[in-house]
Amino acid sequence: MALWGGRFSQDAKSCVQEYTESISFDKRLFRHDIAGSKAHAAMLGATGIIPKKSSRAIIAELGKIEKMIAEGKMEFSSALEDIHMHIETELIRVLGNEGARVHTARSRNDQVALDIRLYLRDAVDSIVEGIVRLQKALVDQAYANRKTILPGFTHLQHAQPVLFAHHLLAYVEQFDRDIGRLKDCKARFNVLPLGSGALAGTTLPIDREFVREALNFPEVSRNSMDSVADRDFACELLSALAIFSMHISRLSEDIILWMSQEFSFIELSDAFCTGSSLMPQKKNPDIAEISRGKTGRMYGNLTAMLTICKGLPMTYNRDLQEDKEPLFDSLDTAEGILSVYPEMIATMKTKPEKMLQAATDPGLMATDLAEALVKKGIPFRNAHHMVGALVRYCGENAKAMDKLSLEEMQSVIPDADADMLKLFSPLSAVTLRESYGGTGFKQVASQISAWKKRLGKKA
Ligand code: ARG
Repeated sequence: MALWGGRFSQDAKSCVQEYTESISFDKRLFRHDIAGSKAHAAMLGATGIIPKKSSRAIIAELGKIEKMIAEGKMEFSSALEDIHMHIETELIRVLGNEGARVHTARSRNDQVALDIRLYLRDAVDSIVEGIVRLQKALVDQAYANRKTILPGFTHLQHAQPVLFAHHLLAYVEQFDRDIGRLKDCKARFNVLPLGSGALAGTTLPIDREFVREALNFPEVSRNSMDSVADRDFACELLSALAIFSMHISRLSEDIILWMSQEFSFIELSDAFCTGSSLMPQKKNPDIAEISRGKTGRMYGNLTAMLTICKGLPMTYNRDLQEDKEPLFDSLDTAEGILSVYPEMIATMKTKPEKMLQAATDPGLMATDLAEALVKKGIPFRNAHHMVGALVRYCGENAKAMDKLSLEEMQSVIPDADADMLKLFSPLSAVTLRESYGGTGFKQVASQISAWKKRLGKKA
């Protein structure tokens, strides 16, 4: 008979048990379930709700059950539905009536809300550590490439020369916001829901503050109905992970482009590529492609979670059991990405001469000429027009802008001077861009050292 057997004349049919079970995926909550039950049992003993002796026996036996599950010695069965009932059933099997006291003043509704929060606290910390490892790899590459110039793109068209380091640090910024979102989300869900009962609290004199302290929560939830109904944190976390994977997909796309024969800006280590079963010459950036593809399931999991919660009446509904698979899948996916990405970035080789070569088109420095005219007092819109006329002149006369004589340039732009002839190198373009946050050498060097300091502290 199931743990709720009193009211029922027969067990659920096995097809029903199999359809409604969650043990196949919630067994990974066992450590957190046991930590929660230990704190709960300690509180029940301390408040005198159950005998101290029973409390001690329960806590000791929970330790043994944890070991038993960790060693793979517990048999899981859909007849026991979920991890909470497996553990409680085992406790009762060994301790009899003493074990039967553990679920006093508790429901699986507040228990599962607790377990997921405890699980996610650890999971978020681990993802943040992984992202920091990735940021470190990017910053190290930025430092190694602090002099490497390549074309910066808008609309995937050559725009202006930038430092490769600047490009990599752009991703470091994006991942930093991901960390911010993850920590922010954790701070909001780091609230103790246990003690809410099924939905309305309990008639027994529980001490929620005791449990809060034991499980290291900064706060106790204020509303028992919200506590068992709420899955905002799952939506928030899945959203943060979806955005993280969107960033990974963009970095992946850059890597795929850079490694293509057309760009040929980088080479990935053989250890991080795969070949073709047919074409012997192929070396493919599969990690980047798979990671770009993983974004699909990350978005899917977020959409699933938002849809599960939509329109649910207060309070707990069994629909909420569906929160776990999307959560676990997105966390596992992020962990998977982070198990390969930092090292793939760390072992990436750049081809600085190819990058520089791609940035030498003097057209990329057209803005610099316009800004030089601005420095002489010419309104920007007029300067833009003059440089545009020069670009047209070069096109019509089949001349490169950097090959013009001063006289020729002055025939189109009377205000031009000899210094303006020197603007047409990518090196000059980067050197001159020292506005705060720009791609100038000094700007980028100071960002690299600031990031090194920050990430050194975080690790
Ligand atoms: N397996 C359930 C879940 O994951 C645990 C809570 C069940 N509560 C209930 N009243 N049936 O949500």
